Amino acid sequence: MNAGILGVGKYVPSHILTNEDLEKRMDTSDEWIRTMTGIEERRIAADDMDTSHMAYHAAVDAIENSGVSPEEIGLILVATVTPDRPFPSVSTMLQEQLGAKNAAAMDVSAACAGFMYGLVTAKQFVESSSYDYVLVVGVEKLSKITDWDDRNTAVLFGDGAGAAVVGRVSEGRGILSFELGADGSGGKHLYQDEKLIMNGREVFKFAVRQMGQSAMNVIEKAGLDKEDVDYLIPHQANIRIMEASRERLGLPIEKMSKTIHKYGNTSAASIPISLVDDLAEGKVKDDDVIVFVGFGGGLTWGAICMRWGK
Ligand code: ACO
Repeated sequence: MNAGILGVGKYVPSHILTNEDLEKRMDTSDEWIRTMTGIEERRIAADDMDTSHMAYHAAVDAIENSGVSPEEIGLILVATVTPDRPFPSVSTMLQEQLGAKNAAAMDVSAACAGFMYGLVTAKQFVESSSYDYVLVVGVEKLSKITDWDDRNTAVLFGDGAGAAVVGRVSEGRGILSFELGADGSGGKHLYQDEKLIMNGREVFKFAVRQMGQSAMNVIEKAGLDKEDVDYLIPHQANIRIMEASRERLGLPIEKMSKTIHKYGNTSAASIPISLVDDLAEGKVKDDDVIVFVGFGGGLTWGAICMRWGK
């Protein structure tokens, strides 16, 4: 019996911050940002739209989409590095707002790999029959920890939320394999010290190496070849990093999810937001083999190979 995704949802703030807007605020250019990162614009949440509010909107969408009622959810996992406050957790706020009164709740801290960590944790609880349904949310309000005076990082990030309801799916579908990993010795390359601080070069090198390797590992663990992969959904951090993992799998360009131009890097939210858009555009279909792969501060990484469908 496999765990899989029964429904998904997303929320992005309505306010769009374009590269041209950033040109007016700092010494940068639309051309540099597009060429070096693939980003054209990003969404920024209003002051009164906190992480838990974005999580709530995405979760409501995912729950409706899955046909499950809030009372049936056994566990809520929220992947975020930008909670409203250190505690109570975003997941407990969500539990109350959703009326998911039978759910346990905890936040997961694995930066941009957080949604992968959340999905894999959900899989364990569903496949052990501990819970029938687990709600997993990836959500970030990165704008509140962005150093708007640092052009090296300010141009990269955006706000948003994506969610999935995980439950049992039919034979042969769902999560086929996974890999999670961490290398704490790389923590110094990407961390928050009031504001976000990053050594872009080091993170870039790590991401190119790890994304491709983890994607290959989960394909092999699923007993498949890279030719069997129908679609790749990488963490949307930088188009050049994403391209490197696509090339490692030998996939044509149309078989890789790309939403970075619209939303920038939304950390834990980027993979589920992309999945929602890809489903809406018919890019992901029943029985497709999909590889998800993410990496982030910690350093952390995670990949999943899944056969799509309920
Ligand atoms: N506009 C114009 N020029 C810029 C900007 C900018 N916004 N930012 C940097 N530059 C300049 C630099 O000052 C430098 O100029 P110099 O050569 O005169 O010194 C030049 O561009 C090159 O800068 P580098 O930092 O060396 O460029 P690099 O090729 O490394 O690209 C980037 C920078 C895009 C940040 C890249 O390193 C990257 O994407 N790294 C990975 C980032 C990432 O994925 N982070 C994940 C975070 S996820 C999480 O956990 C929150």
